[in-house]
Amino acid sequence: MSTDTAARPSQATQATQATQATEATEATGTDSPLFRPTRLGTLPLANRLVMAPMTRNRAGADGVPDPIMATYYAQRASAGLIIAEATTPNAVGATYPNIPAIHDQSHVAGWRRVTDAVRAAGGQMFLQLQHGGRVGHPETSGHHPVAPSPVPLPGTIVTPSGHRENVVPREMTEQEIRDTVADFAAAARRAVAAGFAGVEIHAANGYLLHQFLSRHTNHRTDGYGGSVANRIRLTVEVVRAVVEAVGADRVGVRIAPGVTANAMTEDDVDEVYPALLHALDDLRPAYLHIVFADPDQPLFRTLRDAWSGPLIANPALPWPGPLPADGGRAAAERLLDAGADLVSLGRAFLANPDLVTRLRTGAPLNPIRDAHLMYVGGETGYTDYPALG
Ligand SMILES: Cc1cc2nc3c(=O)[nH]c(=O)nc-3n(C[C@H](O)[C@H](O)[C@H](O)COP(=O)(O)O)c2cc1C
Repeated sequence: MSTDTAARPSQATQATQATQATEATEATGTDSPLFRPTRLGTLPLANRLVMAPMTRNRAGADGVPDPIMATYYAQRASAGLIIAEATTPNAVGATYPNIPAIHDQSHVAGWRRVTDAVRAAGGQMFLQLQHGGRVGHPETSGHHPVAPSPVPLPGTIVTPSGHRENVVPREMTEQEIRDTVADFAAAARRAVAAGFAGVEIHAANGYLLHQFLSRHTNHRTDGYGGSVANRIRLTVEVVRAVVEAVGADRVGVRIAPGVTANAMTEDDVDEVYPALLHALDDLRPAYLHIVFADPDQPLFRTLRDAWSGPLIANPALPWPGPLPADGGRAAAERLLDAGADLVSLGRAFLANPDLVTRLRTGAPLNPIRDAHLMYVGGETGYTDYPALG
């Protein structure tokens, strides 16, 4: 197997990671492993740069992707892989106003416009599936939010009529948990029917699956709470069901160990995540995606060693910003050195439709014009970032 292949490595290819690391270290200028073609399983990728999933709230109130989303993603099709924004697999899982959905045929048709446009532009695309759990509001979804336990998200959340106090979520019954697993599997089938190469299961950033992983948001006393084995159970069941529905090559998993987004607290990441990866590794998904990956942290090394498959790492760049002048290229190359197969960038892709060219040539980057434009509708701050002449 070539060192340029991000397929699940055999023991032999794990041994070649040292070679890859040397290549990455020596790379300068336009010649870097970041820009070399590779493969993710059987999927050919033009380079190792992944556009990270980013919620942009441009769908209709019914969750149908707006045609403007086809333009936005097609503009960014030079990414090796685009992971499209968090999309709800069922109505109760909806988080914020105007996020896209994938639970009926109108959603499939809307997404089909997007995948056709990206394919025509030469890109590859996965869809992120996200159930919000306690991150949601009845005024947005029309449903009372459900979660592992009745532990509310502190503070307020945006709804169609402005910010509202978060409500106390209702504890999911075991039947609701089974239904949710089935909803993820059905959503994955629809995503494939809509033309996506696969789906990414969102177990990061404080949404439903992450809420099950942490004992601060999961106080259950049944088979889904308490021990590490119980808290990882739902994520493993979802991934297994989705793998059975669409095939392991079409399934990625995103995790964020210790990330405090959406008021998450985790005090046993060293136990939870190796156990989760051990269980997921048996299902052989297409990739693992780690948010805010820091190659200097021992946990990163532990997770890289525990995971035999391809790894997408999202570097820990300054948050909320500003981004480094190189857009994150040096951080990306350090992650390749440290054993990542692909590197995802978010904000740099948001503001630079031709990010790959800019990173490769060292051309200056567009700054992000206005943080507030990230989450409101329309073309401004969305499809109007210029490409290089
Ligand atoms: C506007 C915006 C929306 C985001 N939405 C999502 C999302 O839908 N799903 C997700 O997993 N992460 C989401 N993220 C996090 C990004 O995927 C990424 O992890 C983060 O921006 C850090 O990468 P960066 O430093 O390259 O921007 C979002 C980030 C931004 C800036």
